[in-house]
Amino acid sequence: MVDERICILGIETSCDETAAAVVASGERLLSNAVYSQIAAHQPYGGVVPELASREHLRAIVPVVRQALQESGQSYESIDAIAVTQGPGLAGALLVGISYAKALAFALSKPLITVNHLEGHIHAVLLEERQKAAEKNSGFQFEFPVLSLVVSGGHTHLFLAAQCDAAWVYETIGRTRDDAAGEAYDKVAKLLALGYPGGPIIDALSRHGNPHAVRFGPAQIKHFNRGVPREKQTAHDFSYSGIKTAVLRYVELEGMEDSIAIRRQALSGIPHPKTNDVLPLCDQKTLDLAASFQRAVVEDLVEKTLEAAREREARTLFVTGGVAANSLLRETFEAEAAKDGIPVYFPSRKLSTDNAAMIAAAAYPKYLAQNFAEAEFSAEAGLALR
Ligand code: KG4
Ligand code: ZN
Repeated sequence: MVDERICILGIETSCDETAAAVVASGERLLSNAVYSQIAAHQPYGGVVPELASREHLRAIVPVVRQALQESGQSYESIDAIAVTQGPGLAGALLVGISYAKALAFALSKPLITVNHLEGHIHAVLLEERQKAAEKNSGFQFEFPVLSLVVSGGHTHLFLAAQCDAAWVYETIGRTRDDAAGEAYDKVAKLLALGYPGGPIIDALSRHGNPHAVRFGPAQIKHFNRGVPREKQTAHDFSYSGIKTAVLRYVELEGMEDSIAIRRQALSGIPHPKTNDVLPLCDQKTLDLAASFQRAVVEDLVEKTLEAAREREARTLFVTGGVAANSLLRETFEAEAAKDGIPVYFPSRKLSTDNAAMIAAAAYPKYLAQNFAEAEFSAEAGLALR
């Protein structure tokens, strides 16, 4: 039997994961290799761009090889190569792009560029299509689709409509300062809880009282000071205020000493996990973490559903690293159900950065023969349209 599937090798190096994956016809995950650089960035409590580029250089060849091996495909058998063009760290993006260009040239395969944010949206489509295909049906959903892409670098609301096979996007909300994931990471750093902050605060919050500390609307501002009102949309986010509010709380409650002790204790553990951190946290810290999480989650859900109502969205996608958050998933499911809007998330594995989403997003472009020009380069601030 002739295999009519189109196999695309995706490559993703926009931030701190070196990833490669093979996806068949945008709906079947054949492999998903991710080399996480967390250990390299952990001592700094955030991503160090120079370190990220160096780590990508080290990992890119073995990660691509692994993805091909696990998929049962080879360099020769794949139909096309897809790579993230942006947004992301310029130096990090360039590693993936240079390698993808070289590979495409050497193998005489078409090369497709993908916007990282569209990739996150396709992580949802890929998995829903795969689930539907397993039941011999198709993924049924209606436009417009409102997508919340919420990660360490982004908090964006995109309203998507369909134009032929491609999707077109309107940005209807974005963060004016810190991304939600960035706020998680910064608060975790401030409280000496480890890195990345999202998964740790998510786990620790189960042991804290989310109503213990009240963050007022002034801390999660709708509008950013200094940005002209006409340049803001009604659905903008802002998470730098809550980080400052956590700092104030720490100072007011005299938590500095216990934080310093925890920082010291964790510095002796090579790659601290939640089980290492939990015994080092007093109830006040757990309550603060849970309250911070509740405030961020409520704000994300409230503003997204407000936008969905206003723009009459028929389907909701929630994706990006923070979409792995348990409370965010539960709250979205409960609140969207009240409005009768179906909400979809990727699995936790495909919520954070991966290359399967890049290979999946490239499939409609492959069908449209929308291939990259030879001269393209990284675009750190690439917009999604
Ligand atoms: O999508 P991603 O892997 O990379 C970017 O494009 O930024 O997202 C990483 C971000 C980090 O800020 C991390 O703390 C956050 O996602 N994150 C979470 C959770 N898992 C990862 N935030 C909240 N809860 C989680 N369970
Ligand atoms: Zn991402």
